[in-house]
Amino acid sequence: MAKVISIINNKGGVGKTSSTGILSELLAYLNLKVLCIDLDQQSNLSMMLKSYVEDSQEVIDEICQPETENYNIAELFRYRYKNAEDVDALIKRTRIRNIDIIPSSKRHRNTQTHILVNTGNNNIILKRALAAVKDRYDFVLIDNAPASDILTVNSIFASDFILTPVRVEAFSYKGFKETLDTIAYIKEEHGLDSVKFLGIFITQVEANTNIYKDLKVSYSGELGNRFLRTPIRKDIKVAEVETLFEPLLKYNANTNAVYDYSKLLLELNILPDQAKEKLIYAIGE
Ligand SMILES: Nc1ncnc2c1ncn2[C@@H]1O[C@H](COP(=O)(O)OP(=O)(O)OP(=O)(O)O)[C@@H](O)[C@H]1O
Ligand SMILES: [Mg+2]
Repeated sequence: MAKVISIINNKGGVGKTSSTGILSELLAYLNLKVLCIDLDQQSNLSMMLKSYVEDSQEVIDEICQPETENYNIAELFRYRYKNAEDVDALIKRTRIRNIDIIPSSKRHRNTQTHILVNTGNNNIILKRALAAVKDRYDFVLIDNAPASDILTVNSIFASDFILTPVRVEAFSYKGFKETLDTIAYIKEEHGLDSVKFLGIFITQVEANTNIYKDLKVSYSGELGNRFLRTPIRKDIKVAEVETLFEPLLKYNANTNAVYDYSKLLLELNILPDQAKEKLIYAIGE
């Protein structure tokens, strides 16, 4: 049965999508089967994995329907799919072996409206849908929009683990404190004790700067063991592959980002033994 991980921070541009993509690539490289879920109408993860289909304005305005073969996360929520056959039809193979995706697109911006007109349990739509297909995967990674809304709640309900990237910048503490409080509130409000917070990690780090050194001390103090020790360095290759829509491992496996995310994956301690050994060997530790 797959382990489901939500990547969450309600602040934008902190590295949620890059982290989801690169961690998925690493897991796939380790021969683990990954299903990515793009919950963000910006659809950056879908684009990164070349699974993005642009909606016409009529489809976004709901004047006409999308083609059935282009059904995506928007329909999962709109029609509250829960049968394996229906959810399966939304899953697209990507060109990276071992990675599948349920993509997003612009019409997903209407999803909240569709969810909220239903008086049923609106928190478990994603959880119920994933339950139908997740036994075929080792990991499900959910990339979230920069928000704390009903979709984020669905993501947390569907998850075993939550992971929060934070970008080193002067005022981000307030931002991620808000995210942590929201996650804690949602967990408590809905009795989701089994959802484990894996921790916060810092992205886009320039390791020698004073701001990083200061923040590291303050984060470690404030967060204790919820602060992950592995920083992800700023690496131009990450931005490059996003504009080229290339998988990072194929484009350039020998980068700081690949090394750092590998270390992070080991620190998270969620890998099966064999995959863990392979990764340790691959990064030469
Ligand atoms: N380690 C890194 N080094 C350099 N650039 C990075 C790194 N991580 C992310 N970036 C770049 O920073 C930008 C923001 O990253 P990303 O899109 O992953 O953030 P996000 O949290 O998903 O944003 P949003 O909330 O808008 O969805 C992107 O252009 C990405 O290429
Ligand atoms: Mg994103």
